[in-house]
Amino acid sequence: MSDVLYFNGRFTTTDERVLTVEDRGFLFGDAVYEVFKFLGRRPVFLPDHWRRLSNGLRTVDIGNPWDEQSFGAAMRELLDRTAFDDGIVYIEVSRGEGERAHVYPDGMKPNTVAFSRRFKFPDAAKKERGVRLVSTDDQRWKHCDVKSVNLLANVLGKKKASRAGGDEVLFIDGDVVRECGSSSFFIVKGGRVITHPLDVHILPGVTRDRVIELAGETVDQREIARRELDDADEIFMTSTTQGVMPVYQVDDGTIRQRGPVTADLQRRLDDLERA
Ligand code: PDD
Repeated sequence: MSDVLYFNGRFTTTDERVLTVEDRGFLFGDAVYEVFKFLGRRPVFLPDHWRRLSNGLRTVDIGNPWDEQSFGAAMRELLDRTAFDDGIVYIEVSRGEGERAHVYPDGMKPNTVAFSRRFKFPDAAKKERGVRLVSTDDQRWKHCDVKSVNLLANVLGKKKASRAGGDEVLFIDGDVVRECGSSSFFIVKGGRVITHPLDVHILPGVTRDRVIELAGETVDQREIARRELDDADEIFMTSTTQGVMPVYQVDDGTIRQRGPVTADLQRRLDDLERA
């Protein structure tokens, strides 16, 4: 089914093939992306996604096709043209197109695409039951703070998890628990809500940020050791598409019910998204 597509300042549909084989996103993974959610055609946490996209583009030296105002206007028009009320928007900005060469010329014209998609957000039963994680060695590069389309380690990790009966992969680097394949990771222990600090090893999740705000004084941003997983009181992950999602098991470890801290944060994040 075709969806509305924004391409370099104009609107078309996803039926149109807009990129060539020389797009550097395709050739080199030389691109940054973003995913935001919309409810009732209203974007959720859009300024946060704008900030992360701008920071990522700056870090990898790709020109930003927008300023905050033109970005907001383009996304509003995209949602106005969208035929359904709830879903996600995928945005990708690549360095542009040109003859294949690792060294890029200065001042390339970026290629920008954005399209809306229907998305089946988790229902009440899934939000209560939660997900199972399967851990794997973190083989990603040392710039996981950039939402780059270089997702091969994530793709292979998630497939491995899926083959092992998991819903999501958990990246563990030596003894340190980093994050999941497409979500941030939290444990709760003795009333403390604990998550990895912001650095090059994890994505600065928009949902992570909001949950940290909601949990306030009870949050510790510090590295989590592998051995802390088994006796954590609660475990959950967060993302734009899954919200706050309980983790009922990591590998073949302790099986848990959704805990009170997770349920409370889940409810409060849902309220914030609809506000
Ligand atoms: N993934 N960590 C990673 C590696 C991610 O790819 C994502 C998001 C998150 C959660 O970030 P946020 O709360 O801003 O969605 C954490 C998106 C949804 C994706 O790749 O589809």
